[in-house]
Amino acid sequence: MRKRVVLITGASGEVGHALIRELAEQGNSHLLTLDLHALPADVAAYAHHIQGDLLDAHLLGRLVSEYEIDVIYHLAALLSTRAEITPEMAHQVNVEGTLSLLKVAAEQSQWRNQSIQFIFPSSVAVYGLPDRESKNLYARVREFEWNQPRTMYGCNKLYCEMLGSYFSRHYRQLAAQKPVTIDFRCVRFPGLLSAFTLPSGGTSDYGPEMVHAAAQGKPYSCFVRDDARIPFMAMPDAVNALLQLGHAPLERLTRQVYNVTSFTVSAGQIRDRVMSAFPDADICFAPDLKREAIIDSWPGNLDDSAARMDWDWAPQYDIDRTFDEYLIPNVRERYCRTAG
Ligand code: SER
Repeated sequence: MRKRVVLITGASGEVGHALIRELAEQGNSHLLTLDLHALPADVAAYAHHIQGDLLDAHLLGRLVSEYEIDVIYHLAALLSTRAEITPEMAHQVNVEGTLSLLKVAAEQSQWRNQSIQFIFPSSVAVYGLPDRESKNLYARVREFEWNQPRTMYGCNKLYCEMLGSYFSRHYRQLAAQKPVTIDFRCVRFPGLLSAFTLPSGGTSDYGPEMVHAAAQGKPYSCFVRDDARIPFMAMPDAVNALLQLGHAPLERLTRQVYNVTSFTVSAGQIRDRVMSAFPDADICFAPDLKREAIIDSWPGNLDDSAARMDWDWAPQYDIDRTFDEYLIPNVRERYCRTAG
């Protein structure tokens, strides 16, 4: 008999790490995780992990034959900076990987005669404002505005949002028998700030990197100007957004893709908060013009009113709580312990 599971891809990444912890705390003991890398040691006991490649057709075939999948959290992706370095590989992982998994979801839905949920994190990177003047003018963008990404990662995410919607509405629409389709739901995240993990290959990474470097007593050179700003969110809110959207009654959802955000902050304001917690921190600004241009193309704020209306989205961590209650005490403890 096939085992019933919740599948998490990209499980060893930042969001995966926090999601596994939260699901395990809520008592979910049927987690199946997939990643190129091993799971971080502190969450390894909570899931059955398959170390492998999403692009391996044989491996995906095994998943379908061995498991009954209730929900898929498809987190695997190459982030925006990394994707600019290896754009073709990013396309393979971000787009072809998603397509393969959508097919798995469709097959499972049909075979079980019930829509399985496919939860997909998208990103502020799907937006592309042409210049800083436009960014100032269009302060808070809605889901359908400025969808002209300037990165491979943004293009990949935007297309996969559409692919997911297509799979949930029209996939195999001309087949003789109308197939059962998937239940695709997506949130667009701003930059994420985690106290327990560090991102790799993203462009919003200067935010978390500044905090973690200061806590370790390491100098940090920020790769964007001090007035460069984008929206951010604390990791516990990101995980809540995924779970809350998943639990929302389908009939309340007026769209499949929702902006979510918490607060907007400039790199200089992050520096100020870090300096007041770690007065000896050594932080300077040495912009990398290419990475900075990516940040300048992302909106200063996201309009998340649809999420607030449809599934009662409300972040629990504003900027003060994010820094004072979540980030600073936890990174302090983390590196004190490491040093000790
Ligand atoms: N954090 C991501 C990145 O910087 C954006 O979603 O690529």
